[in-house]
Amino acid sequence: MKVLVAAALTLPLALLAGCDSPPTVSFEDASLTLPDDPNTLPEGPGRQAVMDNCLACHSPSTMLQQPRVPREKWEATVAKMVKLYKAPVDPAAIPQIVDYMVAVQARGVDVPRETSP
Ligand code: HEC
Repeated sequence: MKVLVAAALTLPLALLAGCDSPPTVSFEDASLTLPDDPNTLPEGPGRQAVMDNCLACHSPSTMLQQPRVPREKWEATVAKMVKLYKAPVDPAAIPQIVDYMVAVQARGVDVPRETSP
């Protein structure tokens, strides 16, 4: 056991001793382009309610790229967020959220995607 510990300590020390010059590290400015992900929701009544209650976990584009579903389905979805995922949704905001999602989908807001089909 003692031999093992000694070997474990000696090896890195021996490697370090072999380095007489410190490694040169340089940092450069780098930029990267994120995928096209609109970070705003279209204007409309209830927009603020969606921003306050849904965008903590979803990006605006996720919200906008959902399949078009009837109002009941949106109500069920919001209820599912609260029940299953513990989303802190203000109960008073739920009708506004549902109205907004239904209205936005009815307008057929088309969100640009990174890759077109
Ligand atoms: C606490 C985090 C959280 C919040 C807040 C939240 N969601 Fe979700 N949501 C999830 C998770 C987790 C999933 C399942 C995984 C996924 O599809 O991303 C999901 C999935 C979804 C889906 C995909 C379909 C489905 O039924 O799974 C929709 C639509 C959705 N959420 C809408 C909403 C809306 C509208 C709100 C605002 C009322 C909201 N979410 C708030 C966590 C959250």
